[in-house]
Amino acid sequence: LRRSPTVSEHVESLRDRVAAAVSSAIGSAWPELTDADPVVRRSEHADFQSNGALALSRHVAARPAEFAAELAGHLGPGGGTETELLRDVQVSGPGFLNLSVTDHVLWEQVAARLAAPRLGVPRGEAGRRTVIDYSAPNIAKDLHVGHLRSTVIGDSLARVLAHLGADVIRQNHLGDWGTPFGMLIQYLDEHPDATWHRAELADGASAVSAPNQLYRDARAAFDADPEFADRSRTRVVALQSGDDATVAAWRDIVAESERGFGEIYARLGILLTPADSAGESFYNSRLDAVVRDLRDAGLAEDSDGAVVVFSASATGPDGRPIPLILRKRDGGYGYDTTDLATIRYRLEELRAGRILYVVDARQALHFRLVFETARRASWLADTVDVEHVAFGTVLDADGRPFRTRAGDTVGLTALLDAAVERARTVVGEKNPELDTAELDRIAETAGVGAVKYAELSTSRVKDYAFDVDRMVSFSGDTGVYLQYAHTRIRSILRGAGDDGVSVDAAAGMHPAERALAIALDGFGDALTEVAATLEPHRLCTYLYDTARAFTDFYEACPVLTAPPPAHGNRLALCRLTAATLQQGLGLLGIEAPERM
Ligand code: ARG
Repeated sequence: LRRSPTVSEHVESLRDRVAAAVSSAIGSAWPELTDADPVVRRSEHADFQSNGALALSRHVAARPAEFAAELAGHLGPGGGTETELLRDVQVSGPGFLNLSVTDHVLWEQVAARLAAPRLGVPRGEAGRRTVIDYSAPNIAKDLHVGHLRSTVIGDSLARVLAHLGADVIRQNHLGDWGTPFGMLIQYLDEHPDATWHRAELADGASAVSAPNQLYRDARAAFDADPEFADRSRTRVVALQSGDDATVAAWRDIVAESERGFGEIYARLGILLTPADSAGESFYNSRLDAVVRDLRDAGLAEDSDGAVVVFSASATGPDGRPIPLILRKRDGGYGYDTTDLATIRYRLEELRAGRILYVVDARQALHFRLVFETARRASWLADTVDVEHVAFGTVLDADGRPFRTRAGDTVGLTALLDAAVERARTVVGEKNPELDTAELDRIAETAGVGAVKYAELSTSRVKDYAFDVDRMVSFSGDTGVYLQYAHTRIRSILRGAGDDGVSVDAAAGMHPAERALAIALDGFGDALTEVAATLEPHRLCTYLYDTARAFTDFYEACPVLTAPPPAHGNRLALCRLTAATLQQGLGLLGIEAPERM
């Protein structure tokens, strides 16, 4: 039941220790139930509650309430459980056990977390190679709000999983291949003075808008002029067969676009680097083998001049199986073939144990078919976990798909600028003493953090309304609120100067100290839950609840003016709260400034 001495940096949570105690009490009372899950959760009625009796009592033909009462007898002092752990065990309702831990273990837990390098969080993902496919914008197009969601959610998952010890491989599946490039290159060729490199453009051209403008012009020509369209198609063939000049032009477009994406990643504090880019073009040389091997496996067949794999499980409205298109009638390869080559590469060459695709929910069917085909082809074993980490559509404050007045999707830079502008006003009002340079810096941190937090704190699969005013508010469940809560604690700690934080575990505990200490002890559990559910909003909720527990504590318990031992113990709580908020925000990819 004690902390494992071999993993010194891991501080087992009290929830886990209580669960282990209940489990072992169950095992000694009913040997046939050894190792049963006692279902221990946080509770409003006590520190923790065990709901296990309800299901387990059936196995030993007892009534839940009797089972719980008997179990309670094994748990208290003299019942065999480490005497230090529980101070109170009560049966409640139809067979719940309300469990409260001693002040002593709680203070010890605070001290242990504070001393541990990573606040004692376990490395539950150690040894798991996890590929995360996220961001994946399309070259020569704007990175829009949908890509923003993928970028922000994927980055947070990459951070959390890596923090828990996973061997994370980030993959940016850039849309850098296919028919549009013939059109772009041909257009550039025919319009030698189509300026589109940002360096050649007037001030104010945003990071990605220049290639995007080229895309629009080329598209207009393509739609208006059938001969240009034909020349563009010939160009695609030239590109695919490696014609030097065409490939050079393609590289130029990709590089310019990637520079633009890189600027946005830098502003957002996204981990992706050029080394993480493995765009669609990367898989070009692997496509023939995919089609050949799926044919050899008897999965691919000809259909209307195309080569397809019909799904074994998904049917369309007409009742016929839905196909993945391996080779189009014109002989070209597309998105489906590329994703098959991609999953195969990740499995066979990257040796992934888990693959996550952080992509718009509207691509659910596509991924279902890709995973199904990979499984049928025996590339994908049951031991590997592949998941489409789907997210909903971004809506405006009125609940309509997010667009500009002209009906275009809204560019990211404009959107971030708007959030930073609002944050500047809000922060400036709150803290008029800040000088302009510092206000600018804090507004950028707060505005960018606000956008990211808003993306992350809503349930991932739901559609999500983008509302700049709400997201930069100082009150409520916002990034700004959490950043501000962190700065307030830092200022308390600055006020304490060099005062020591020696924890006296023999001291009593105020209910508000207790609530905060229990919240802080749940950090690792919250992260473990994010890793299992792939839902960063659970970490947001955890941090918000913890910040509120801190506020309650600070209202009830003076820190700097308290006499010893409360002084040192409360400083320890302040320090652990600040560190938890900072690390937690960091795992969301959000900065926690010292002041704001
Ligand atoms: N580029 C695609 C888009 O913008 C997303 C790619 C997602 N990843 C993948 N492996 N298909 O919709």
